[in-house]
Amino acid sequence: ISELTTNADAAAPTATIADAALLVDGGRVAWSGAAAGAETAIAGRDSGLSPLSRAAAAVSRSEIEVTRVDLGGRAVIPGFVDSHTHLVFAGDRADEFEARMTGTPYAAGGIRRTVAATRAATDDELRARLAALVAELHAQGTTTFEVKTGYALTVDGEERLARLAAEVTDEVTYLGAHVIPEGAEREAYVDLVCDGMLAAVRSHVRWVDVFCERGAFTDAESERILRAGAEAGLGIRVHGNQLGEGPGVHLAVRLGAASVDHCTHLTDADIAALAGSDTVATLLPGVEFSTRQPYPDARRLIDAGVTVALASDCNPGSSFTSSMPLMIALAVREMGMTVGEAVWAATAGGARALRRDDVGHLGPGAHADLVVLDAPSRRHLAYRPGVPLVHRVYRGGEEISP
Ligand code: NIG
Ligand code: FE
Repeated sequence: ISELTTNADAAAPTATIADAALLVDGGRVAWSGAAAGAETAIAGRDSGLSPLSRAAAAVSRSEIEVTRVDLGGRAVIPGFVDSHTHLVFAGDRADEFEARMTGTPYAAGGIRRTVAATRAATDDELRARLAALVAELHAQGTTTFEVKTGYALTVDGEERLARLAAEVTDEVTYLGAHVIPEGAEREAYVDLVCDGMLAAVRSHVRWVDVFCERGAFTDAESERILRAGAEAGLGIRVHGNQLGEGPGVHLAVRLGAASVDHCTHLTDADIAALAGSDTVATLLPGVEFSTRQPYPDARRLIDAGVTVALASDCNPGSSFTSSMPLMIALAVREMGMTVGEAVWAATAGGARALRRDDVGHLGPGAHADLVVLDAPSRRHLAYRPGVPLVHRVYRGGEEISP
C-alpha cells in the first residue's frame, strides 16, 4: 500500500502512513501500520491467541494460512460511510433537474411526484431498483450506508419502504415526515406520523428523521415527531437549514440528534450550538451541485470545532448521485476542506453521524471495510474529479466490487 488512511490515530486524525500494510483476520482489522512491521504483526498473532487456541496453533503453526495481497503502488482508505440517502423510490425527475439548470428554483413539492411513482411500483420493482443503486454505491467504494423512507407517506407504504430498506442495510431511517402528502390535513398527518405510522415501521428502523424546513414541517411539528420517535427507542436525525436559515440546527442540538443534515444556511448561533454538542453537521454537496445553490461553508464549521460528515443524499429530486468521491472533490474544491478532512468526513465522519465505532476507520477491531484506489494517494480523489479511481472494494475482508 503506497499510502494508508486509517483514521485511527487520535493525535493525528487525518494522517496517512506511507508504505503501509494491513492485517485482516476474521473480517476485522487485526493490525495496520508501516509495511516493515507486518511480518512481526503476523507472527505476533499467535501470541495474541487464547491459551486453548495457542496450544492448537503450536501444533499446527505451519498450517496457519496467511494470504498476502500486494496492492502495488495503490492507496487504501476506509470504505465510505454514506450516512444520508433516500434510495427506495421509483421514477426520476430529470426534467426538474434540467429546468433548475436554467433558473427554476428547487422546490420540496417535487417530492410528491416521487411519492406517486413509488406508491404505484410493486415490491419487486422497488427491490430491483434498490439493488441496482446498492451495486452503484459499492462500485464507488461505499461499504456502509443509511437509507430513509419517505416516498410513500401512508402507513402501509412507509412500512413497505422500511421493510425493503432493511433488506439492504441495518441503518434504516423513518422519514414519514418528508412532506405533507397531497390531500392530507396537516394536524391529522402529523398525528399519524407520531402514532400509527411509527408503530408500523418501528421494527424495521433505527432512526427517525424530519424535513424541518419552510414548505415541509415546522419546528413544533418536527419536535413532536422526533420526540415520538425517541420515545419508541429511535435515534434522532434532522434535515435542516437547507433552503434557508431556520430552526433545524437548534432543534437537532436541543434533542441530542446524532446528526443534522444539509446545514447550508447557518447563523453564528447555529454554529456555536453545534460546536458545543455531540451532533454531527452532515454536509450534502450533491444537493448544491444539483440545485445550483451556494455550497455550505465547511471551513467555518471545522474551525469552530464542529464535527463534519459528508454524505450523498442520493435521491431523485435534489441529488441523484451516489458518488462519495464526487462529494470529496466538491468539498475540497468548493467548501474549504483539505483532502484529509474530506476523506475523514466521508468515512469516520459518516460513522460518527451514525454513532458507529466499528466502521469508518481501519484501526484494530474495525470491520475490514476498505477501498483500494487506482492512485498513489487519496489526493487523487479531488485532483482527478469524475475519474473512476475505485480499484477494489472490500467489506468484512471480502471483495464486494468489482
Ligand atoms: O434531502 N430535503 C428533503 N429531502 C430530500 C429531497 C427529496 C426530493 O426532492 O425528492 C433532500 O434533499
Ligand atoms: Fe435528504
